[in-house]
Amino acid sequence: KAEGINLLSFSGFRSYSRQKTIYNIKKDYHNGNVKKTEEYVAPPGASEHQLGLAMDVKDPSGKNLGPAFGKTKQGIWLKDNCHKYGFIIRYSKEYESVTLYNYEPWHLRYVGVDAAYAINKMDNIPLEWYVSDLRLKIYQYLIME
Ligand code: DAL
Ligand code: ZN
Repeated sequence: KAEGINLLSFSGFRSYSRQKTIYNIKKDYHNGNVKKTEEYVAPPGASEHQLGLAMDVKDPSGKNLGPAFGKTKQGIWLKDNCHKYGFIIRYSKEYESVTLYNYEPWHLRYVGVDAAYAINKMDNIPLEWYVSDLRLKIYQYLIME
């Protein structure tokens, strides 16, 4: 707020049935094409929103709901600052082939301040890589016991 950035959270926790409704609306829009549907919408049971750790944000004017949001002053501010509050932006443009979702500069995932700082320092690698690296480290630690 102090920097003149106004952001509105418009979608936080979603139940399985809410995600299913959103999924089916998108699927109907794409005439039943599952691949197109899942570019932007997770299948019910697989959304970070259902986990309760994600929220979508927008400009309160309601504009810029698409990928262009990343280029707005709000989108740029989020990319530069969200880690300070424990969030990362899911899903980045450069890692679409890893996350299997399209770029969503409005989708924030809470991972905690330590992990968010680490991911930011690692040039915003996808959470999938960060988690798999942690698993490997934990495994290596366990076999050294
Ligand atoms: N938009 C993201 C992928 C979701 O539906 O959880
Ligand atoms: Zn989202």
